[in-house]
Amino acid sequence: MDDKKLIFSGIQPTGTFTLGNYIGAVRNWGPLQEEYNCIYCVVDMHAITVRQDPVKLRQNTMNSYALLMACGVDPEKSILFIQSHVRTHAELSWILGCNTQFGELSRMTQFKDKSQKHADDINSGLFTYPVLMAADILAYNADLVPVGVDQKQHLELARNIAQRFNQRYGDFFTLPEPYIPEVGAKVMSLQDPTKKMSKSDENPNACILILDDKDTIIRKFKRAVTDSDSEICYREGKDGINNLMTIYSIFTGKSFDEITSEFDGKGYGDFKLAVGETVADALEPIRTGFAQYSKDKAFLKKCYTEGAEKALRYSHRIVSKVYRKVGFVDMG
Ligand code: TRP
Repeated sequence: MDDKKLIFSGIQPTGTFTLGNYIGAVRNWGPLQEEYNCIYCVVDMHAITVRQDPVKLRQNTMNSYALLMACGVDPEKSILFIQSHVRTHAELSWILGCNTQFGELSRMTQFKDKSQKHADDINSGLFTYPVLMAADILAYNADLVPVGVDQKQHLELARNIAQRFNQRYGDFFTLPEPYIPEVGAKVMSLQDPTKKMSKSDENPNACILILDDKDTIIRKFKRAVTDSDSEICYREGKDGINNLMTIYSIFTGKSFDEITSEFDGKGYGDFKLAVGETVADALEPIRTGFAQYSKDKAFLKKCYTEGAEKALRYSHRIVSKVYRKVGFVDMG
């Protein structure tokens, strides 16, 4: 082992990521491999906390895996695996659950939101979701966890669980820190720029999926909701334009001032087209990479099998120590 810090992150197997997932998270996963030891996981066990069609879940899990590779995660450089392949996550989750209070879990805002949204299925997995997430992270003693704002409360809970375990059983777990990427931008809906861009939006024009083809991407940007003046500048109250400027700035590296002068004298139509073309062109290699990886089932299988083997080896060392600490008998 070297002295690089260890990063752990997970992503839900939705099959295709939104532009928001990409900019906020996955885009950074490739570059992080150069500086850190990275472990990345497609969290199919978290996915079943809400009802899933089994055939689709399997397909989406494999597609998410291929898509992460297309986005620059290299299974030779990182450990890239599927959560359900590595039993230590569920094993550790049980132990951590016995060190987590009902009251703590009741305070999780995502649980409150999701139990409203899925009022007919408030299952206990939905409630203990953050314990499994803590197990994902602590099974590797990860130092850093790249997460969006919506997951910060869960990460905070993981730290509290780790701390409590350390007090009860002796110092053992590393307390994971959130990793906030340098350009941590939030991408808003193209139809209501006060809301986060989300795949579950009823209006398909609100959300760019990174596997959308070029024409679709351009069309969605052309229809983006803006405002009634015509100035391309970043200013409070201009949520739609601010969102488009943020996206354009991320893909071109240009500052807001540079963008404003680039479009001086031009209209929103020109600007939207430029954003659409820039995004579509930037995502083109991902679409091509995905088409290649997802076709080659044998290669994919080899990658996720080896990833799971590495992840199991790594986490088993840690989880078997946890078993000893809590007083389970060695199997010999
Ligand atoms: N809960 C995270 C999300 O929905 C996904 C996740 C599961 C995760 N386990 C994790 C993220 C561990 C970071 C670390 O986005």
